[in-house]
This record gives sequence, C-alpha cells and structure tokens, in this order.
Amino acid sequence: MELELTNLAAVVGGASRGLGAASAECLAGEGARVAVISRDADRLRATADRIGGVAVPADLSTPAEAAAAVERAAAELGALDVLVVNSGAPPRGSFAALGDGEWASAIDGTLLSAISMIRAALPHLRRSSCASIVIVLAASVRVPLPNLAASNVLRPGLNGLIKTLASELAPSIRINGASPGRVHTEGADELDALFATAEGVGVDRIRARFEASIPLGRYGRPAEFGRLLTFLASPAASYLTGQVVSADGGMVRSLP
Ligand SMILES: NC(=O)c1ccc[n+]([C@@H]2O[C@H](COP(=O)([O-])OP(=O)(O)OC[C@H]3O[C@@H](n4cnc5c(N)ncnc54)[C@H](OP(=O)(O)O)[C@@H]3O)[C@@H](O)[C@H]2O)c1
Repeated sequence: MELELTNLAAVVGGASRGLGAASAECLAGEGARVAVISRDADRLRATADRIGGVAVPADLSTPAEAAAAVERAAAELGALDVLVVNSGAPPRGSFAALGDGEWASAIDGTLLSAISMIRAALPHLRRSSCASIVIVLAASVRVPLPNLAASNVLRPGLNGLIKTLASELAPSIRINGASPGRVHTEGADELDALFATAEGVGVDRIRARFEASIPLGRYGRPAEFGRLLTFLASPAASYLTGQVVSADGGMVRSLP
C-alpha cells in the first residue's frame, strides 16, 4: 500500500519526544515535510534534525500561542496538508485533587489549544487537495480512567469535536482521532511513577498491573502508535473521517 505522503506538509504538536516525535518520524519516513512543535528548543531541534524536519519552539498550553505556532509552522513549510494535534497531558489527579487552577490549565492546554490549532490550520488546509487532521486522544475517550479526572472530562470533548468537524469540514478535510492505551514513552514512565508514589508501591508493580490488563501483554512502542497515526493522516485513509482508532493492545474492552 502506498500512503501517498510524499512532499505533503505536516505539522505535529508536542513532538520533541514520545508519541508526537514517533508520529513525526513516521510521517517524515513516508516522505512528508514535517514541522515539529514543543517547548524545549534544544530537545526539539535534536528531534527535528534526526527526522530532517523543521523545529518551531512554542508553548501549546495557551490558545493564542498554539494558534501562532501553527501559523509559524505552516509559513516555514509553505503549505499545510496534515495537522497533528498533540501536547502534554492535562494535570493528573482525582476530581478531589484538582482545584480551579488545574481545571483552567487543563481546559486551556487540552481543549482550547486544540481548537485554536485547528482554527489556525483551516485556511491552509482548505488549500490542500488531501487535507487531514488527527487528534491524539487517550483511552479516556472510551472509559474513565482512575485518577485522571481532567482527561476523563476533556478527551471525550475532543471526541465530540472530531464528530462535529467530520461533518462541518467534509468533504475537503478529514478529521480522526488516534487513541493510545499504554504506550511506552517518557510521559508514560512519569505517569507510572506518580501512580507508584500515590499507592506507595514500586513502579514495577504498577507496570505489571497495566501489562496484565492488556490482552497483548505489554505496553505499545511509540513507533506502533506512529504508524497508526500516519495511516489516519495519509491519503491512503481517504474514506475515514470522524473515527477514533485505538492503538492499545486490546486494553479498552468496551464496544466502540
Ligand atoms: N503514552 C501513553 O501511553 C499515552 C496514553 C494516553 C494518552 N497519552 C497522551 O498523549 C500525549 C503525548 O503523550 P506522550 O506519552 O508522548 O508524552 P511525553 O513523552 O511526555 O511527550 C510530550 C511531548 O509534548 C511536549 N509538550 C508538553 N507540554 C507541551 C506544551 N505545553 N506545549 C508544547 N509542547 C508540549 C513535550 O515537549 P516539551 O516538554 O519540550 O514541551 C514532549 O515533546 C499526552 O497528551 C498524553 O496524555 C499518552
């Protein structure tokens, strides 16, 4: 199968490491011209150099900066065919643990910045003959996850955004979600360490418990997620829009 990404222009948020970097690397490997966005300029430059892409340092946690970053990235590439909406995780914790400040930053960083990135991208995407948007989600779009109240509230909102825009942007722009279960990134390691501290157990115990809950018996590899996202973004997925597809080793047991 040919993904037909050669020379298409792709902008990937939250992409100096983890799922964003793996997705950017896969898109670049398929011939796309890629701009990567995240905060740490040195780490971002190293990732951009490794994949032959363009680095656009920016903080995606505020809607205004998120929109400006997409504008800069599209200007650097001279076009925009693929937008990957991704950034850091919203503040972790149970409902009881999150105050107004955490909720405000979660809403800004996860929901409003995604909306702003998409709004900034639309004029560019409308000039493309094969435009698509992919939003990086989480298993919380299907089932609420313990101690991740903000994710449980906001990721389903992004799923609603995908369904809304699938109709509003059709037929010229496709939009889908790629949903990781447990994919082994530094961010996932940090989350496991937080759970371990909260429960007073070792990280190995947390990890073993997650692995036991996954039918394929292991965390995913970032490249396995990157391949799913790259397919959804590519012209090869030309009849897919409004879908959320999981790369979770079977972790989420609910019906879609
Ligand atoms: N890995 C999983 O299993 C998993 C599961 C479910 C959901 N997710 C979600 O998927 C997303 C990516 O996860 P990951 O595992 O790849 O995380 P990660 O390893 O922590 O990587 C996050 C990336 O986003 C960048 N970033 C963080 N905050 C940012 C901001 N405010 N503005 C711009 N860039 C920012 C980071 O670079 P800088 O720090 O330099 O900005 C880094 O490149 C997160 O939203 C996470 O909650 C992941």
